[in-house]
Amino acid sequence: MDTRTTIIALAYLVSAVLFILGLKGLTHPRTAVRGNLIGALGMLLAVVVTLVSQQIVGYWLIGVGLVIGTVVGAVLAIRIQMTAMPQMVALFNGFGGAASVLVAWSELIVLAGHVRELSAKELPVPGDVYGTLVSGLLAGLIGAVTFWGSLVAFAKLQEYKAFRKPYEYPFMKLGNVALGLLVVLLVVLGVMCPGSVWPYVLLVLVASVLGVTLVNPIGGADMPVVIALLNSYSGLAAAATGFVLDNSVLIIAGSLVGASGVILTQIMCKAMNRSLAHVLFGVLAPTDGSATADEVYGGKVKATSAEEVAMLFESARRVVIVPGYGLAVAQAQHTVRDLAKLLESRGCAVEFAIHPVAGRMPGHMNVLLAEAEVPYDQLKEPDEINAAMGQTDVALVIGANDVVNPEARNPKSAIAGMPIIDCDKARTCVVVKRSLSPGFAGIPNPLFALDNTLMFFGDGRKAMLDLLAAMKE
Ligand code: TAP
Repeated sequence: MDTRTTIIALAYLVSAVLFILGLKGLTHPRTAVRGNLIGALGMLLAVVVTLVSQQIVGYWLIGVGLVIGTVVGAVLAIRIQMTAMPQMVALFNGFGGAASVLVAWSELIVLAGHVRELSAKELPVPGDVYGTLVSGLLAGLIGAVTFWGSLVAFAKLQEYKAFRKPYEYPFMKLGNVALGLLVVLLVVLGVMCPGSVWPYVLLVLVASVLGVTLVNPIGGADMPVVIALLNSYSGLAAAATGFVLDNSVLIIAGSLVGASGVILTQIMCKAMNRSLAHVLFGVLAPTDGSATADEVYGGKVKATSAEEVAMLFESARRVVIVPGYGLAVAQAQHTVRDLAKLLESRGCAVEFAIHPVAGRMPGHMNVLLAEAEVPYDQLKEPDEINAAMGQTDVALVIGANDVVNPEARNPKSAIAGMPIIDCDKARTCVVVKRSLSPGFAGIPNPLFALDNTLMFFGDGRKAMLDLLAAMKE
């Protein structure tokens, strides 16, 4: 190994260590910002070393790519709402997959030309060509599934009309099995014909259809799992591309993304009590077992006011605050923190119940409450908080719906088996939201019609401000 190659390998090793330290930092909110910076530093080092060491593409072309990418990325990052972050993550995953497809394609074109030259000279094809070929085919396959799957996930999260409902058509599962078999056949064909890129092109086309047909039937409520899984796929596609390019840092970074995506997928599955196979192959639509909104709410809902809730809080000794997606929409995190502080100053114990899929992205509520400087030890997971829900005077639900829906205990419901925060077991439950409209899963919530529930209708932030004012009077 010459000195130049050694320095590049060492720099890549340092990048890899920084990635791992960065990920370690991201495992805890206290160290997350530092972890993010360390990971970014590792990426900067890897990019600079790759740019300096590469000799194939002219720097002007790289410059043009960088400018276009920076402008698009900056505009998107500035304009995107915090509540639309999952859509952005879906697009990032998709673009990662698309990049893998294109890079592998260009490398396979070069490889095929090389193989044809060898064949013309009647020379044998070296074994390592097949290693690169298999990696390239896998990068194309996983990358195409990721790209199209992510676009469908984006459309679902964006709630585009055509994608809103889980979509089922005759022989759907059989069709996906047939596509899967076709994919295997094309990979074998690609390996058997190393001098042609056509099997690769066909593979990418079939994988693209598979990406759409695999994600399209999955219901909105299961989208968190799908996003985590697609994130993992994009990492695997990048790792396969790393083998094609013989670039160690890309293999390591891709593997880290792939592995962390799988871990996140597993956490999300557990949080929703779904098996991965069920998410991927079972269609989840509201079933006949779910009652209609009229049946659930008809004449049973009690509205309340800021003054009434303030009176309730006067005698409360233990309050649990349950934030959800609506807290993010209303940007009510700071006012909620003020409310918690006021309650504590009056001798009331306050805790926040954080459901892993509350909001629209993993850790959504943690990020919002950390932004408002709510102490981290006040945030409790469902298991921990549910154990004490029976001794809770008031459960204050702010903009949460699916994660507190007792319908999850109904085996026929679309969210059957999803662990929930047992707000119905608190002495009184106050729900802050603007109307009786359903949450992301699209089903009515019997919690709103219970005897011990009071509905405090209004925008989350305004409702909290009114409540604070009423409590201070
Ligand atoms: P949801 O069930 O989606 O309910 C949010 C509620 O917030 C809505 O019912 C809405 O009711 C209310 N809301 C909206 N804007 C509001 C405002 N300005 N002020 C007050 N309330 C407002 O939320 P959740 O309980 O957090 O559950 C999350 C759902 O999203 C789950 O189904 C989960 O599977 C899904 N999901 C999660 C993720 C991740 S990873 N967290 C990703 C994708 C999807 P009104 O319109 O009546 O106000």
